[in-house]
Amino acid sequence: MTPDNPFFITARIPDPYFCDRKAETEQLIDYIHNGYNVVLKAPRRIGKSSLIRHLFQQPEIKSRYNTLYVDIFGSRDLSDFINEFQRAFLAAPIAKGEKTMKKIKAYFSNPYFSISDSLNGTPLPKIGFTAPHTVEYTLQEMFDVLEKTDKPNLVVFDEFQQIQNYPQRAAAILRSYTQQMNNTRFIYSGSSRHLLQTMFEVSGEPFYKSAMPMNLDIISLSAYREFCSSMFHLYKKEIDADAIDMVYNLFSGNTYDIQVVMKGTFAQTAPREKASQDTALSAIFEILENREQDFREKMNELDNQKERKTLYCIAREGLATGLTSSQMLKQYQLDNASSVQNALKNLCGDKLNLVSRVGKNHYRLQDRFFELWFAKTDGRFDEKISTAKDAFDKERALTGVTSAPPSQSI
Ligand SMILES: Nc1ncnc2c1ncn2[C@@H]1O[C@H](COP(=O)(O)OP(=O)(O)OP(=O)(O)O)[C@@H](O)[C@H]1O
Ligand SMILES: [Mg+2]
Repeated sequence: MTPDNPFFITARIPDPYFCDRKAETEQLIDYIHNGYNVVLKAPRRIGKSSLIRHLFQQPEIKSRYNTLYVDIFGSRDLSDFINEFQRAFLAAPIAKGEKTMKKIKAYFSNPYFSISDSLNGTPLPKIGFTAPHTVEYTLQEMFDVLEKTDKPNLVVFDEFQQIQNYPQRAAAILRSYTQQMNNTRFIYSGSSRHLLQTMFEVSGEPFYKSAMPMNLDIISLSAYREFCSSMFHLYKKEIDADAIDMVYNLFSGNTYDIQVVMKGTFAQTAPREKASQDTALSAIFEILENREQDFREKMNELDNQKERKTLYCIAREGLATGLTSSQMLKQYQLDNASSVQNALKNLCGDKLNLVSRVGKNHYRLQDRFFELWFAKTDGRFDEKISTAKDAFDKERALTGVTSAPPSQSI
């Protein structure tokens, strides 16, 4: 069925509405076919989960592998992990396929593998498979079943860095299973570059060098331009290239942000009409209006004036640096260098999580809409538009990437 709006903001995107990622999809298929595991890294909202869902739909993967997607976002310990794994395991066709079911049944009817009561450890009477949701699988059991399937398996653990927060030594436990798997390839995906790098690139860590690293970059501007225009065309609408470029630069190519704005821009464009920069701006203003309350609450959550002023200073600067210099302290009426440093620590910390450090000494608000809200409130939106490309280029240079994503497709 044709959707009313072709710009999706959920992780499951039907193929016709999925933008680019051809090179990345091919690269992943290639790794998997050649027997590699992969660790897929990207900042939040760039498109890791969508890419994995897209990969699962590709004929080369769909026909040749049993695919399991395990999202462990929000899991707090190994037991949560096992629950999520089991949920994906039972939902997968391997658990439904009659042939495999027989194998599973035979496997569990083996007296050696009685399923135990997880609360008090006493063996339960043998359980059949009539009500799979009541069955509990141990990690060993699930991995054993996977090892015996006819088709090889592709298992994705999304937000994998989460296991580093578990109280148990989860990485060591999991690695002891995964390293024995011949029939299963793994993709470990996550947004904490630092944690994933530690897990996979520090010798002595259980997952050290157990997967090919792959950094997922933003979608290139040329690919996004082409995609947007074709989506508008599909519905007999048009969009100015300038409007696409403006949105892309304002949001530094962040996939979620640009998709949300394009969704709004598309909705505001009637058939046979052409969306302009003004249409895109009107879509952005509508989003800012809807989030007004959210932004005000965020400001109220800040304990003190110093944090508010420092946040304002970063928002205003866009990509802020030299925050403790006498010129900045004066311009933004900030108290002194140490109070700015304290404020920065809190603003970047897990509790508030409002600011990210870019490169060595630069700071930027995490939520670009929040930055734009400040600009709009101040009547400085035009300034944001005119400086957006420079700020974006600088940001990419600071993070060690050039302005054009390497996967750029023509
Ligand atoms: N190739 C694409 N084409 C169109 N939209 C996309 C594409 N990739 C991602 N998106 C959109 O961008 C948003 C973010 O994507 P996704 O949830 O996959 O990111 P993520 O990297 O997994 O984020 P998180 O770290 O928060 O889990 C989604 O709303 C999705 O619809
Ligand atoms: Mg995700």
